[in-house]
Amino acid sequence: MTSRLLVSALLLVACSLALASDPSPLQDFCVADRDSKGTYGCQCYTREWRGLQADDFLFRGLHLMGNTTNDVGSNVTAVNVAQLPGLNTLGISMARIDFAPWGLNAPHTHPRATEILTVIEGSLLVGFVTSNPENRLITKRLQKGDVFVFPEGLIHFQQNAGNGYALAIAALSIQNPGTITIANALFGSNPDIACDVLAKAFQVDIKVVQQIQSKF
Ligand SMILES: *[C@@H]1O[C@H](CO)[C@@H](O)[C@H](O)[C@H]1NC(C)=O
Ligand SMILES: *[C@@H]1O[C@H](CO)[C@@H](O)[C@H](O)[C@H]1NC(C)=O
Repeated sequence: MTSRLLVSALLLVACSLALASDPSPLQDFCVADRDSKGTYGCQCYTREWRGLQADDFLFRGLHLMGNTTNDVGSNVTAVNVAQLPGLNTLGISMARIDFAPWGLNAPHTHPRATEILTVIEGSLLVGFVTSNPENRLITKRLQKGDVFVFPEGLIHFQQNAGNGYALAIAALSIQNPGTITIANALFGSNPDIACDVLAKAFQVDIKVVQQIQSKF
């Protein structure tokens, strides 16, 4: 009898875990106060219809190509709560990603969001790596119209796998996903992470670490 109860209790826990999701908003919307920098989700600019404008729910310009003349040959145009205050508390955002030929959206993670991406133009080699200890690389070459998902928090990348221009549109499961670009975070932190820490972590000579640090 006791063991049957235990099994039921465990099943209940398993079910509630499987159903875990974002809490629903408590109101129709909560337009972010443009002045509350960095504290999105805390303050609603307007709780009433009075003073509310359609522009609070609008972002213009996603048809514009980002400038890909940079070291990696890609450019992300983010549309999150910082650009579109009406997204506040709604659990969603998006981005446009432009790629020069063979351009790379370098390995990075979004600490707070799952990302779903579709290729609008060209073809992309994409991938993500599962957590320890497996660290399995899940990778695919995508064509125009393909949709791929990058699970929350996992390190992922996208590379233009062609000589032409490529374009992707991504949606993210939070208003402010955050981005940690692995190379920048480790080798371009402010102040620097001590060379011997990185040398041991990457099992290379300190000179190699200094060389990489000099690039960021
Ligand atoms: C991305 O493109 C925009 C618009 O052209 C430009 O202002 C910005 O500097 C570019 N960012 C990078 C990292 O190249
Ligand atoms: C793109 O960025 C590069 C490097 O910053 C700059 O030289 C170039 O003028 C920019 N192109 C456009 C169209 O803004």
